[in-house]
Amino acid sequence: MILVTGGAGFIGSNFVLDWLAQSDEPVVNLDALTYAGNRANLAALDGDARHTFVHGDICDRALVDSLLATHRPRAIVHFAAESHVDRSIHGPGAFMKTNVDGTFTLLEAARAHWATLPDGEKAAFRFHHVSTDEVYGSLGPTDPPFAETNPYEPNSPYSASKAASDHLVRAWHHTYGLPVTTSNCSNNYGPYHFPEKLIPLLIVNSLAGKPLPVYGDGQQIRDWLYVTDHCAGIRAVLAGGKLGETYNIGGWNEKANIDIVKTVCALLDELRPDPAGPYSRLITYVTDRPGHDRRYAIDARKIERELGWRPAETFDTGIRKTVQWYLEHADWVANVQSGAYKDWVNTNYADRVG
Ligand code: NAD
Ligand code: TYD
Repeated sequence: MILVTGGAGFIGSNFVLDWLAQSDEPVVNLDALTYAGNRANLAALDGDARHTFVHGDICDRALVDSLLATHRPRAIVHFAAESHVDRSIHGPGAFMKTNVDGTFTLLEAARAHWATLPDGEKAAFRFHHVSTDEVYGSLGPTDPPFAETNPYEPNSPYSASKAASDHLVRAWHHTYGLPVTTSNCSNNYGPYHFPEKLIPLLIVNSLAGKPLPVYGDGQQIRDWLYVTDHCAGIRAVLAGGKLGETYNIGGWNEKANIDIVKTVCALLDELRPDPAGPYSRLITYVTDRPGHDRRYAIDARKIERELGWRPAETFDTGIRKTVQWYLEHADWVANVQSGAYKDWVNTNYADRVG
């Protein structure tokens, strides 16, 4: 079996669902159910004996120790993190706690557990760390995309905390020999994406007739990847990645934010036309994010060359599926928008001049 952390979040829940759709290898899913974690993402697994959900914190060493001793996973796939750049600007503390301290706790627990394994299990054991392209900083307009050899230049509290966790994972391999792999992925989109992030925010705000906030000039570039392609990339690294190596995962799909906004508006005009007029009428340029990275792009040739992974979805197919999913899951959206979500919207957008 495998131990997944953060498997009730956006990418983690997609990973667990895909994993159990493709194999019968059981999953123990450790998640603290922060605002971003949602049991409803895993509703399809209710009553499925292959999935064990554990409500707990990766910083809780005694809990992690007992899960490793009880379940003896052959691998840990580590997604759990605070993941939103804007939240990291308003409150960096939680990012240091979970992303840095939490990863440290997991590494130490994994190291202690791994040391007790018999030789065969020891050789097969893996710790896979899920990270982001944001650790590399920001590209200029004509720079080549990020390769695995790029220097780390994190610019936000979020990316700095992820960079720190990547360095810890690297050091635990180099110093202790812990069998680790790391993947650094570009921006994901797809089902179960929490509507504080750009693409789901655009969909839910459009449907509610609310402004579509575009930070700064909207010309910032991200390299968008459909979430199930990221999950397939992680499975490929887990299965065949070289120990101690990092693999960049990306969509070969650079788009300016304003083009993303227009694409989502056009799809909604087609699929759910609004009598009040085209959704693009809601586009509102607002105050930029402090320290906003201008461009991210991934060179994903290493994972293709070594592990045969390439994205299966194009942006056209992926974004259409995504918009359709949100249209068909109004109940999921209503559920995640209740409670503390409204406070966050106030915190992040109230002072942005539109
Ligand atoms: P998310 O915010 O949607 O989910 C994070 C999950 O981790 C939630 O279920 C939350 O409850 C859980 N969690 C948070 N703190 C925890 C703790 N202390 N203990 C246990 N669980 C805790 O994030 P996501 O977008 O699914 O990202 C998952 C991972 O992928 C993160 O490590 C992130 O850095 C990385 N990543 C994300 C993207 C992206 O575009 N979203 C791109 C590349 C890499
Ligand atoms: P986001 O989804 O927060 O991901 P990240 O910051 O990790 O790339 O944002 C994607 C891009 O969209 C980023 O350049 C910031 C921008 N953005 C907006 O323009 N308006 C918004 O309301 C949000 C949330 C993001």
